[in-house]
Amino acid sequence: MVDVLLGLQWGDEGKGKIADFLTPKYDVVARFQGGPNAGHSLEINGKRHVLNTLPSGIFHENCINIIGNGVVLDPVRFMEEIDRTVEAGGFVEQNLRISYKAHLILPTHKILDAASEAAKGEAKIGSTLRGIGPTYRDKIGRSGLRIGEIFSKDFILKYKQSKERSLALIDHYGFTDFDLDAMEEEFFGAVERLRKYQFVNSEYLVNQYITDNKNILAEGAQGSMLDIDFGSYPFVTSSNTTAGGVCTGLGIAPRHIENVIGIFKAYCTRVGSGPFPTELDNQQGQDLRDKGSEYGATTGRPRRCGWIDLVALKYAIMLSGVNKLCMMKSDVLSGFDTVDAGVAYLVDGNRSTEVGFDYSGSVNAEFVSKPGWKEDITAIQDYDVLPDTVKDYITFLESQLDTGINIISVGPGRTQTIERNI
Ligand code: GDP
Ligand code: IMO
Ligand code: MG
Repeated sequence: MVDVLLGLQWGDEGKGKIADFLTPKYDVVARFQGGPNAGHSLEINGKRHVLNTLPSGIFHENCINIIGNGVVLDPVRFMEEIDRTVEAGGFVEQNLRISYKAHLILPTHKILDAASEAAKGEAKIGSTLRGIGPTYRDKIGRSGLRIGEIFSKDFILKYKQSKERSLALIDHYGFTDFDLDAMEEEFFGAVERLRKYQFVNSEYLVNQYITDNKNILAEGAQGSMLDIDFGSYPFVTSSNTTAGGVCTGLGIAPRHIENVIGIFKAYCTRVGSGPFPTELDNQQGQDLRDKGSEYGATTGRPRRCGWIDLVALKYAIMLSGVNKLCMMKSDVLSGFDTVDAGVAYLVDGNRSTEVGFDYSGSVNAEFVSKPGWKEDITAIQDYDVLPDTVKDYITFLESQLDTGINIISVGPGRTQTIERNI
């Protein structure tokens, strides 16, 4: 049985926390897209730990963690991540499996990311500069390097060919602010270390697990509004962050997918450029940022904050067939007089309840206002004990989204998680 866990907004919804929380129910956790642009926070022994490429089941001894073919992997950052994770008690050597078909992020991909963003000036995407876009571009352009190549005798030759192609583009951008020799030294050092891990044809492995009736959790990175096809293009990432990505990024057929668990914050954030119709560019936005510690887990950048956007959430639920919801960071809303929710868009003065083609910086939202709550809810373990105002907000969201909210998160810790059987 395969369940899918997806972020429904612009990323950073709390996927890491919930994947780690749910892992005891699964034999396998697998990543299917994205790469070190992701930053998934888990609380391990009271300390925050951030994962970038490793799946969030890595701290559970009895769970196999797979990096699927749809992922892009930077050996340099990956080895640093492995060292941090082993030190924190993660079961990397025993439990990690890496697809031979995942694509390699090369030093020149990272330089190209920086060059392309610099050239865009004001119109920049706000990329994490981890080389994601250029690596997926080479993959789709059929000139990428898959990780299995590190075992091939032609690896250096193929590396050099790819590097030369990228250098021509970097030259075209007129970008010179990099030290390729130093980057290459790090890269080849990390590749050397990478070889000792367990590489697999992950599509066969995953399907064998399905045949053996194992439970698999496919862990998404980023969020639905960053999807390359359906997100706020061009202010998106370069992979399919919606449910379709599971099929192509792991080799899982659609009929094997049972539950699609969608994760959203009780409000909304975005890091990087692009439209954000419910953004609060005022003191309330700053209050959300302060109370929610809304600074990027990967880059440390301040996240833009705003009220929940129900138009975008409904769209994300529709695209992925979400049948279970987790509402995160509900505790952060304590103390606001009212809690607002965007229920429609105003595009050039026209009201719309769809995320249309013309979704751009000029979209504003129409709001519905709900009473806020003052109580500290971070220690509550039982749904019935939540203040009525919180329960009313949940009921309102469920009726708007036509989907039940099964998990309510009231803090970053594993135990700060209220489960409801609905
Ligand atoms: P991800 O990328 O979706 O895994 O999310 P991030 O880890 O980038 O960002 C979520 C942040 O919120 C992390 O710092 C988490 O520790 C924290 N977090 C998760 N759930 C809650 C919650 O219910 N309340 C609060 N206050 N923080 C939370
Ligand atoms: P997790 O998995 C939030 C954003 C970047 C930028 C855009 C493109 O932690 O939720 P990229 O580096 O992919 O070319 O950047 O996407 N972005 C994220 N925002 N959370 C993420 O991952 C993100 N990964 C990419 O800020 O706007
Ligand atoms: Mg994150």
